[in-house]
Amino acid sequence: METAQFDFGIIGVGVMGSNLLLNLADHGFKVLGYDKNKEKTHLLEQSARPGTTIKGVNTIPEMMDLLAKPRKIMFLVPAGKIVDDVINDLLPFVDDGDILVDGGNSHYTDTLRRITYLQDKKIHFVGAGISGGEEGARTGPSIMPGGDEEAYRRLEPLFVSVAASVDNVPCVAYLGKDAAGHYVKMVHNGIEYAIMQLISEVYDLLKNVGGLSNSELAQVFADWNQGELQSFLVEITAHIFKEADDKTSGSLVDMILDKAGAKGTGKWTSQDALDISVPIPCIDAAVTMRNISSLKDQRVKASALYPIERQTQDVNKAELIKELHDALLFAVIASYAQGLNMLSVASVHLNMQIDMLRVINVWKGGCIIRSSLLKVFELAYSSDPNLQNLFLHPDIAEIILRTQGSVRTAVSKGIQAGLPMGAMTSGLYYFDAFRAERLPVNLVQAQRDFFGAHTYERIDQPGVFHTEWNVVKP
Ligand code: 6PG
Repeated sequence: METAQFDFGIIGVGVMGSNLLLNLADHGFKVLGYDKNKEKTHLLEQSARPGTTIKGVNTIPEMMDLLAKPRKIMFLVPAGKIVDDVINDLLPFVDDGDILVDGGNSHYTDTLRRITYLQDKKIHFVGAGISGGEEGARTGPSIMPGGDEEAYRRLEPLFVSVAASVDNVPCVAYLGKDAAGHYVKMVHNGIEYAIMQLISEVYDLLKNVGGLSNSELAQVFADWNQGELQSFLVEITAHIFKEADDKTSGSLVDMILDKAGAKGTGKWTSQDALDISVPIPCIDAAVTMRNISSLKDQRVKASALYPIERQTQDVNKAELIKELHDALLFAVIASYAQGLNMLSVASVHLNMQIDMLRVINVWKGGCIIRSSLLKVFELAYSSDPNLQNLFLHPDIAEIILRTQGSVRTAVSKGIQAGLPMGAMTSGLYYFDAFRAERLPVNLVQAQRDFFGAHTYERIDQPGVFHTEWNVVKP
């Protein structure tokens, strides 16, 4: 009988689970995939490369018998109650020292709750965000673990060997205490939402104001991917515009219904940012746009009621492309700035001790928001580890100063054409508000004090003031 010889087990052999197992097996680890469904585990075993060891199991006791102790088990299942169910199914079979890893997109508050629950039972628990989709899991994802550091150190050799790496630095590192791993992954997804929305807004302008065809769009994004905008999302966008539809003679992108789905991580980022009073308007706008997109029936009715009167704008395609390149660069930086700022505030708020440089390194490869800009951010945070906001670093200021003119023109053109430019406009107003030495909220304070005696501070002396405001009668 085979006993205790496998290095790692994964519960849930869907797309992510099976690809991660294949990746681990390629690196010489003996791995087990658990799923109740025999067909799935059979398929998993069949996909193993010759010379690698992957076994499918259909019962928890079988998996526990076959894993070397202390056991290392990861679950890759949908976030929510199912994670608790998996943990409870495992509990009767787990021994002291075994390590459980939640590799899904769990909400960080669930991770905090599970840490306490399992600590009481002396079971190690690591919450680890994993990014990169199907291909990333197979060839090198970005892994964002946090929590039990001792347990992480035991997982580290496996994680380092399968993770992506950039300049020989693995895209996995211990990121911080408690639920830091899932918190970082949540904010990663928030930034992912913002960049995807920004790219869509640029597409809207290039197509509807610039009149670019899909093949021209493919070329623009492919060109941009060679320069400062080099990134996974820009790269895949170029490929998307080249894809022909196999059911019609057109492009696939034109046949896709304009209703965006969402599994919740972007919304969680916005919700938590509001709770800790951190402004992340590009991410908020991206979440809002997905919500508006789902109102398709109402949008169709409204479009008949309010037809767009598009005035023809004089368009020089080459100029528009250059302008949108710079506008996108500006707004993408604003999105990272908001996300990174949120992380540093949340780190203090939840005492997670998140290491910002490690986060940036882990995001440099394997994940959905990987981009060459992260190297620029790495330099910025290396030179100033306590950087509060990317906008405050001189290297970033150089890029922002050279691109802000373009973002203003691009937003105006979009607004003029009646195109919704939510994320890009949000990037611009965030910047304009952030760099304003004086904002008009002195008036808001006056109004609060006027109707509610909420008090205000003065610019010329310390203290808290209230005024009996004079109501001038007509
Ligand atoms: C990743 C992605 C992934 C996410 C999908 C879908 O990092 O690999 O963030 O974790 O689940 O992108 O997210 P939505 O369905 O919410 O768009």
